[in-house]
Amino acid sequence: MSSQDINDPLLDHSYDGIQEYDNPLPGWWVMIFWVSIIFAIPYTIYVHFMEGNTIQAQYEKDMADNTLNLNLEADAATILAMSNDPDKLALVAGSFGTLCAACHKPDGSGQMGLGPNLTDKHWKNAKKLTDIFDVISNGVPTTAMAAQRGLDKDQRVLMAAYVVSLSRELKEGLPPEGEEILSWPSETE
Ligand code: HEC
Repeated sequence: MSSQDINDPLLDHSYDGIQEYDNPLPGWWVMIFWVSIIFAIPYTIYVHFMEGNTIQAQYEKDMADNTLNLNLEADAATILAMSNDPDKLALVAGSFGTLCAACHKPDGSGQMGLGPNLTDKHWKNAKKLTDIFDVISNGVPTTAMAAQRGLDKDQRVLMAAYVVSLSRELKEGLPPEGEEILSWPSETE
């Protein structure tokens, strides 16, 4: 299999005195080459001119699959209703883990120097339920709490509901900050 052999036939051309041995490419390589070309013809026709699954189409489908399409209103009644709906809360539980837990802890009990305890009845930025949605949507300027641009409206409504659900059960963590709101989470405003 050595690439050249002194007995190989020489090709008859000569460039500036340089000559080549006649070493054809291995058969398996040439076979892959031709098979690729033959495969490419129907493949190109199917993907570009027929109903073939382009990367663009696949991207659009994936985006549609990831959109909840619940068209939730960001009002107190909806947030409260969702906070009592475990199936809906489950849709954002994973996002809380990846987007929020780093500062607020996975159980919401807060992290010293990072994010406040979300499980107590004290709130720094919220006077009514919809304020929680606003904090998630817009962040709290000049603090580490950033606007959650990666979440669409449905997801932000559900995330607000998730926070409300966390606030129903006090977890040992950071001491309370802000004003106490005792009426939550039963009332709607
Ligand atoms: C980089 C750290 C960080 C991340 C990540 C983060 N937060 Fe915060 N969050 C904060 C800080 C700091 C505050 C307090 C802001 C202040 O001082 O008013 C806060 C405040 C809040 C408040 C208002 C609490 C109150 O007492 O008024 C809510 C609700 C909240 N975060 C929810 C979330 C949710 C939901 C996520 C994930 C989508 C999240 N946060 C991600 C740092 C973070």
